[in-house]
Amino acid sequence: MEITLKEILPPAYREHRAILHFNIHTLEDIEGVVEAGYELDLPVIVACTPRVLNTLGGRSIVGVYRSLADYCSTPVVLHLDHTTELRDIWRAISSGFTSVMIDGSRLPYEENVQLTRTVVEVARAAGISVEGEIGAVPGKEDDLKDYSKDLTDPDMAYSFVLETEVDALAVSIGSAHGFYKELPKLDFERLGSINKKVNIPLVLHGGTGIPVSDIKKAISLGIAKVNIGTELLALVTETYREVSRLDYDALEIVDAGKRKLKERVKELLLEIER
Ligand code: 13P
Repeated sequence: MEITLKEILPPAYREHRAILHFNIHTLEDIEGVVEAGYELDLPVIVACTPRVLNTLGGRSIVGVYRSLADYCSTPVVLHLDHTTELRDIWRAISSGFTSVMIDGSRLPYEENVQLTRTVVEVARAAGISVEGEIGAVPGKEDDLKDYSKDLTDPDMAYSFVLETEVDALAVSIGSAHGFYKELPKLDFERLGSINKKVNIPLVLHGGTGIPVSDIKKAISLGIAKVNIGTELLALVTETYREVSRLDYDALEIVDAGKRKLKERVKELLLEIER
């Protein structure tokens, strides 16, 4: 079933549950994620970055998504992740994505509000949902020792939600994108204060490597969407590498990658979402 974040996140947020967001990098990954959710009877969010959108093409991604989501009973969101350029947002909306994230977190506050508000207005008209970000979740490119200044300020989060009317808010509470040497410490106190102020579904980015117990605590404090990307890309890439050393053809290699991804997605869904 095709669905938006707007429909799926508020009940999860109220019930202290979270829906998992999985970053896909191939069309087969979409099948793996949707089949995993379907087999466990759990909702899933299929997400891709603009780089993936522009490599695979909006029509291909949406074609595969619809061909699966329209025929399965479990809810499936198709979400464009971390987008900084409006042209990518328009591309996703016109292709049939049901959700987009506009990431103005590196911009000055007023510019972030303005950009996010523009996207919310168009997305509303298209009937899809919008995730925004305030504070900035660091990635590989950032010096992890110096990101405390980018943590989300609860008062700023409150005014951002009020001014933009986003459906979900990504917050920076200590997690980081990608693999890292030192395990990031989540700032639960900050998360609790943000949650008291904004009262909308919050999003935890950088899910790879965060212990399940920390993720569960974050869910009890307002996180209703958990994003997982890097570990799945690494798993599929490693599977392709391993299998291609053996005497397999391209179809078997791609299928092995999909099966591994599906297995891991199921594990994560059982550990966190159920
Ligand atoms: P990881 O790549 O660290 O799992 O983070 C994914 C993410 O937050 C995508 O938005």
